[in-house]
Amino acid sequence: MEILHVSAECYPVAKAGGLGDVVGALPKYQHEAGYIAKVVMPMYKTKFLNTHEWDVVHKGYTNLGNWWFIYTIIKEKTNVLGFDLYQVDINGLLDREKIYGYDDDPARFVAFQIAVVDWVAAWKHRPDVIHVHDHQAALIPFMIKHCYRYQHLQGIPTVLTIHNAEYQGWLGWDKSYFIPAWDNWKSGLLEWKNSINSLACGVRCAWKVTTVSPSYLEELRWSANGLEALFEYEKGKCTGILNGIDMNVWDPETDSYIENHYNIKNKTDGKAKNKKLLCERFSLDEQKPLLAFIGRLVGEKGADLLPQAIGDSFYYIGRKMNFLILGSGSPMIEQNLERARTLSSGDCSIYIGYNESLSHLMYAGTDFILMPSRVEPCGLNQMYAMRYGTMPVVRSTGGLRDTVRDFGDPDGYGIRFNNPVIGDITHAIWRAVQLYTDPLLMDEMRRRMMRLDFSWETSMKHYGDLYASL
Ligand code: ADP
Ligand code: GLC
Repeated sequence: MEILHVSAECYPVAKAGGLGDVVGALPKYQHEAGYIAKVVMPMYKTKFLNTHEWDVVHKGYTNLGNWWFIYTIIKEKTNVLGFDLYQVDINGLLDREKIYGYDDDPARFVAFQIAVVDWVAAWKHRPDVIHVHDHQAALIPFMIKHCYRYQHLQGIPTVLTIHNAEYQGWLGWDKSYFIPAWDNWKSGLLEWKNSINSLACGVRCAWKVTTVSPSYLEELRWSANGLEALFEYEKGKCTGILNGIDMNVWDPETDSYIENHYNIKNKTDGKAKNKKLLCERFSLDEQKPLLAFIGRLVGEKGADLLPQAIGDSFYYIGRKMNFLILGSGSPMIEQNLERARTLSSGDCSIYIGYNESLSHLMYAGTDFILMPSRVEPCGLNQMYAMRYGTMPVVRSTGGLRDTVRDFGDPDGYGIRFNNPVIGDITHAIWRAVQLYTDPLLMDEMRRRMMRLDFSWETSMKHYGDLYASL
């Protein structure tokens, strides 16, 4: 079976968050399981692009409205990622330093999707499934069903995986000319609340829709940034499939980003060495429990709650813990965190920016990972943390609910709280600090977490069943 994944991100080529991790891992394991798995993504200006060799496999000429452009499909020569990797080069439009964040993002990603469909239309055979990820690829099911020039592709089954329904790829109707001419009777499929909504269109037109955890799918029916009614209506074709993690990349025994490797047997010693390194680097106290946050500094992740939660923890619990924050995002949150740091007398340190290698050291060397998310479709951090024996402290939502069991419950191993509010977070931090005073219990929790299996095996089987049902 041949699966073509279409995505804006793919690790290690280009990653802004978990989407990249998933699209870098799932196809690899699918390939190992006997599928022909291919990934096509935009060609950004990345280090990966310059350090690998490429074959030009196709050149095409197509249009975004009245702008005609040449696109080139290049393929990585050696299959270094464990699957066929293709990139779409559109001169001036996609070949930029960043993945997102440009004013013309809507045009960039529509052009990307047109080029992908145009290329597939030139294949001598058809893929068995086109699997599109998030709104940047969600117009493809519509294009192949209803755009006149792609009519011969109509029968190809499509799957849309929603990694995050907060971002929907809105496009004013004045930009509708971007999309190749379509059957006008079908315009309703593009529309949601007076604008073109790529994600809503994908939900309607894809043969099947998946979300990256079962709980998130449930939640979308009452909280989906305006699309609740749509998810209720389309629930029959939707399934929640929990992400896995790449157990080869995220392995404390072999992780190339950390110096002090460890496994379930020598975890106490291994984690302590990594913690020492971190504490030296950030002038923290290795005797105190170290709580970390890694991620985008946005409201969705509850990052705006951190500054006050940190301040309140020092005030109400005392200076019994240290905090280390790695992330970037909203300038306001960055400023507030900086203020919390200056008030912390050295008990809180922050690193603003994106740093893959530091994130690995933090999963290995911290004691707790804080995730007060308001929305968390799956969340990978908590799974990485647990693989490294670091306890997640999470708000019970989406994928966090599906992967973390509170240590107060039978066979539990994490800390959960219900509401993304300061009081709940501070209480959860208090529980973490209390737990840390009991090294034997801590050790047992670490053992339980490190024995959990978050590999792609189970998820892959679910995707396999889904493809087969098409
Ligand atoms: P999301 O995709 O919503 O941001 P996930 O939990 O699915 O959240 O994935 C986040 C991924 O991005 C993880 O691999 C995490 O380690 C990584 N990450 C997020 N922010 C940073 C950062 N500032 N530096 C390094 N890695 C980061
Ligand atoms: C999104 C979600 C995150 C999920 C990731 C990978 O970025 O916000 O929760 O883990 O996609 O599916």
